[in-house]
This record gives sequence, structure tokens and C-alpha cells, in this order.
Amino acid sequence: MATLTFEQPKHLAFVQKLEADIRFNLSDSCAQGLYLDELIALQPNALQGVNLGYAPIQGAFLLREQIAKFHSAGLSTPFNAEQVATFCGAQEAIFAVMSSLLSPDDEVIVFTPCYPSLAHLPTVLGAKVHTIALQASQKWQYDIDALAEHINERTRLIIVNTPHNPTGTVLSAQQAERICQLAAKYSCYILADEVALHGYSAEQPLSSLFSEYDKTIHLGVMSKSLGLAGLRVGWAITQDRELLQKMLNAKTFTSICCSAVDEQLARVALLHSEQILAQNNQQIRDNIAHFERFITAYAGLFSWHAPQAGSLALVKFNHAMPVETLAVALAQQQHTLILPSSVFDLAGNYFRLGLGNRHFAQGLARLSALIDEQDLYHSP
Ligand SMILES: Cc1ncc(COP(=O)(O)O)c(C=O)c1O
Repeated sequence: MATLTFEQPKHLAFVQKLEADIRFNLSDSCAQGLYLDELIALQPNALQGVNLGYAPIQGAFLLREQIAKFHSAGLSTPFNAEQVATFCGAQEAIFAVMSSLLSPDDEVIVFTPCYPSLAHLPTVLGAKVHTIALQASQKWQYDIDALAEHINERTRLIIVNTPHNPTGTVLSAQQAERICQLAAKYSCYILADEVALHGYSAEQPLSSLFSEYDKTIHLGVMSKSLGLAGLRVGWAITQDRELLQKMLNAKTFTSICCSAVDEQLARVALLHSEQILAQNNQQIRDNIAHFERFITAYAGLFSWHAPQAGSLALVKFNHAMPVETLAVALAQQQHTLILPSSVFDLAGNYFRLGLGNRHFAQGLARLSALIDEQDLYHSP
């Protein structure tokens, strides 16, 4: 078998190359979340009696029960703990799913731009990746007709991420139903990356999609809506028991199990998720309002579609200066990070805006300072 060759994800490579002392991150994909002492304050005995041996490979049962409940919000048929497996972040779950499902020459369909590993990992595993580009002119909405054109007998996996990183777009229940019909016709799997499911939503709270289709793998994680990326706990949920077992076999070659401490803290956070999410989602609402005022003040210099849900959006920089140049200057002179859309393989002068951070206004003030200093507003 050929050597697996991994490329460093472009967003991480971009940050590393900047070699800047970043203090404000305007592109963060996570909600604000809590510090450890704040989480412990919600349940002071949280860490009493935690056994520091290996955690169960599938994840602690009580945590899996909480995850099943959390991910089932709004569903008429809830998930159960037996269908859940924990992983060290959603990233490890993505690895377990793809390495369990994909063989060389399988075909995979992914919508782009996207979280880099969703498109890169299938390639590393030898699969053929068909990309379907979301378009700014369509407000980044999913194009299911294009999916119908690309899907065929060799398609093994359809990858969907909703709410979407980096555009903030959301798949509707009708679109999900059409995707299920297409997947069923060609007997392929759906990877439903729902890591930002419980975050801010401009309309009603979102529910997990595709749960009626038995070849779906749902992904969730502590890092995005809850803002607890330091707890390396994510999960996969599927009705396909055979696939779940294969994914657990894969996990025994990566982490074996999650940290028992992280799993316990994740359970505590899920028990208090309503309170944490209310705080995080209010922060996103406040930051959206702040950003609306910012682009009004610099009328025409920036344009965007506010997120339908989640904490991410793409912002267009309407200036002759390439957004990469703006990003480098912002990092080096103002210690503030924005990620140009080229790191997500999207052409055009866009950057990803992360709206979760409690220091968002300070980061934006740094961007204003750079615009004013370089006179970018008066000389577009
Ligand atoms: C869409 C998407 N899926 C999966 C992940 C992986 O999550 P984690 O880094 O918490 O493992 C990310 C992280 O940015 C993401 O944006």
C-alpha cells in the first residue's frame, strides 16, 4: 500500500507562515466558551471520583447518553447512547469515518469552500473527490441539482456541513430530504458534519438533519457551539452498527480513547449546555450587530451575507489590495488575524469572519486602525 501523504491544512500553514504575535482572532471558528474555573463553578464537584485509567473506547456511557440527548434536540425519534462514539475532537471522528469507508477509486462529493480536511482526507486515502462550488451570487446556498448531476454508482460518500464553515449557510429540511433520496438511490453514505448545530441561528433553533437515513454519520463536537475546544471531545452518531465498530477499531490506532478528564468535563458542560449556549449565542448576536455598524461606517469597503446560523461568515474586501496583503499587515502591525478565503480554496477577495469571540470588538478596532492608517477607505 502507498504511503499516506498529508498536507498541512492551508489555514494552519498560513498562520504559521505569518510568524506574528496574534492577540485577536477575527476568524476563529469557535464560540467564546468558558475557562476551566468557570466550568467547574457550574458544578463544583465535577472532577470528584474520576477514574484516571483508560476511558471506555466508545466513550463513557453517561457522556454518550448526554450526547445522544443533546444531538437529538427537536427530533421525533431521538438518538440513543449505543449509536454514539466519542472521539478526540470531530477531527478524529472524520478520520475514523473516512478511513473506515473509503477505498481507492471510491468517489466522494464535497461542497466547497469547506473545512480543509473534509476535502483533503478523501484524497489522501486515494478516493476521487468531486467538488461542487457554493456561489456568492446564490448567497452560498447548497445546489442540490449539481449534486444530482455528479452522483453516480461509484459515489461512496456525500459530505455536507451545516451550518457551514466558512459561509454560515444552512441546509433546509427539504434539501436534506432530496440529498437522502439521491443517497438512497445510489446506496451511498452521508457524512453530516453538524459541529455548529447548536450555535446561534437567525431563525428557529436547528435540528439534526438526515436522521431518517440509516447510512448517515452525524458529527458533533464540544469546540464550536459550546466553545470548549480545549476539551478534545467530539462524537459520531450512526445507526450503522457495523460501521460504528469499524470506526472504533480505527480509533484504537489513533487515540485508543479520549481523556477520562475531558470526557467528564464534557458531560458537565452538556448538563449545563443551555446556560453556556445562551451566553455564547448572545455574544454572536452582539458581534453581528457590531459588525453591521462597522461595515455601515466603511460603506462599500466590505460586503457580506450574515450567517444563517453558526458563528462564521465570508466577508468581501472590495478593494484593489489583495485580502492576503491586508491579512499580513493586520497580523504584523495590529496582532490581529483574518484568514483569506484562498486557504479554503476559494478565489476572490474574501476573508472568514468568526463572530464568537468576546474580544471581537477589540479585534475589529484593530482592523479599523489599519484601514485608517493606510487610508484604505478613501482610496479604494
Ligand atoms: C466543519 C468542521 N468540522 C470539523 C472540525 C473539527 O473540529 P475539532 O477541531 O474540534 O476537532 C472543524 C474545526 O474547525 C470544522 O470547522
